Amino acid sequence: MTEPEINDPLEMLATHVHLDGSVVVDVGSGAGELVRFMRSRGAQPIGVECGEIMLQRALDADPEHPDSYREGVGQDLPVDDQIADAVVFSNSLHHVPATEMTNALKEAHRVLKPGGTLFVTEPIPTGPSFESNRLVDDETVVRGLAQDALAAAAELGFELQSHIEYDGEYSYADAAEWESVLVGIDPTRRAKLDELREVAVQAFYDNATERDGRFAFAQPNDVKVYTRT
Ligand SMILES: C[S@@+](CC[C@H](N)C(=O)[O-])C[C@H]1O[C@@H](n2cnc3c(N)ncnc32)[C@H](O)[C@@H]1O
Repeated sequence: MTEPEINDPLEMLATHVHLDGSVVVDVGSGAGELVRFMRSRGAQPIGVECGEIMLQRALDADPEHPDSYREGVGQDLPVDDQIADAVVFSNSLHHVPATEMTNALKEAHRVLKPGGTLFVTEPIPTGPSFESNRLVDDETVVRGLAQDALAAAAELGFELQSHIEYDGEYSYADAAEWESVLVGIDPTRRAKLDELREVAVQAFYDNATERDGRFAFAQPNDVKVYTRT
C-alpha cells in the first residue's frame, strides 16, 4: 500500500514528531498556530518568538496559555539544557541572521535531550507564493544560506532521518490580508511594500489561484528530520 500524500504542514509535523507527552520547542513560533496544534495533540509546547507583532498575535489567539510563549531568538534560546523531546523550525531558520544560523542549530542541540528530534521545514524559493512575495522580499539568498547551515548539521551532532519535499499552500482573503501577514513576519518589509504597492499587489493577483472566494498560492517545502546524537 502506498503512503497517503501529506500536504498539510500540521499533519506533516505530527507524522514526524512524536507529540503526545513531549516537550517541544517551536523556534520562531510566529502567531502560534503550531503551538496550539501541538498542545491539541498532547504536547507541552514552548513557542519562542522575537517579533513583537507575532508574539502579540499568538497571545491574543491563546489567552489561556501565556506560559506557552517566550520572547527570544533561535540563536540564544531561553530554554534550559536537554529539556526538549523535539525542536521545530517552521519557516523560521531563514529568518535567523545569516551569521547566526549555525548557532541556532547549536542551540537546538543544547536544549534537546539525546535522541530527541529536530524538525526543520523551509520554503523552496520557487512557485507562486515565492513569486508573489519576491518583489517585496526576495528570500532566494537567505533560504539558500539556511540550506547551507543544514548541510553541516551532521557536524553539530544531528543524524538525518528523513528528507521530504511537498507542495503546501497559503491562502488569503485579499491583498490586504497578505500584506498584514508579510509585515507581521518582518516589519522591515513595510517600507518596500509602501514604495512598490501597485506592482506588488499586481504580482499578488497575477500569481494567485482563485478558489472558494480566496486567493491561493502553492509553496513547495523542504522538510528535514534529524535525531540528536
Ligand atoms: C515565516 S514566520 C514563521 C512563523 C511560524 N513558525 C509558522 O510556521 O507559521 C518566521 C518567524 O521567524 C521569526 N524570527 C525572526 N528572527 C528570528 C530569530 N533570530 N530566531 C527565531 N525566530 C526568528 C519571525 O519573527 C517570524 O515570526
